[in-house]
Amino acid sequence: MEFSDVENDIAEVLYTEQEIHAKIAELSRRIEVDYAGEKVLLVGVLRGAVMVMADLARELTIPIEMDWMAVSSYGSGTQSSGVVRILKDLDTDLHGRHVLIVEDIIDSGLTLSWLRGNLESRGAASVEICALLRKPEAAKVVVDVKYEGFQIPNAFVVGYGLDFAEQYRNLRGIAVLAPHVYA
Ligand code: IMP
Repeated sequence: MEFSDVENDIAEVLYTEQEIHAKIAELSRRIEVDYAGEKVLLVGVLRGAVMVMADLARELTIPIEMDWMAVSSYGSGTQSSGVVRILKDLDTDLHGRHVLIVEDIIDSGLTLSWLRGNLESRGAASVEICALLRKPEAAKVVVDVKYEGFQIPNAFVVGYGLDFAEQYRNLRGIAVLAPHVYA
C-alpha cells in the first residue's frame, strides 16, 4: 500500500520505503561486523517488527536464526499501558546464545526494557536491541539500543508493520497518523 492509497489518514510522511531500506542496510553492515563468526538469534517482536525482521534478515550476509515473541502492552489506543504480557513465547533455548531483539519502535521503552531483562534471565550470552524507530521524548525508562534507525517526534506513526487498530501495517513507508483517525 502506498501513501497515496491512504492520503486522507496521513498527517505527514516521515520515511519512504527507499529511505527505510537504506537505513536497514546501514544497520546490517554494523551488525555483520559486530557478530562476525557468531550465529546470532534474531528475536522479532510480533506483530509490528515483521517488516523490519524480514528486510533485516535478508539484508544480513551472516548466518542467523529467527524466533518470535508476542507481547502485549497496547490495546487499540495510542498510549502504552506499561503492563507487559507474553502472548507467544520463544521456541528457542537461549542458553549461551547471542540474541538480537528486533523491534519496530521504542516509545516509552517499557516493553523493551522488560523484554531485555526477561531474555537475559534465560542465560543468553548477550542480548542487544535493534529498533528501527525511537521516540526520545516519550521515554519513561532508559533503554540501551545498540542499533537504532531513526529518532522521530512524539507522534503516533503507522506503516512498515506499525498499526493503528490493526490497520496500515502494509503501508510501504512510515507516516504520522492524522489525529482525526483516532479522535
Ligand atoms: P513502549 O513499551 O511504549 O516502548 O511501546 C512499544 C510498542 O508500542 C511498540 O512495539 C508498538 O507496538 C507500540 N507503539 C508505540 N508507539 C507506536 C506508534 O507510534 N505507532 C504504532 N505503534 C506504536
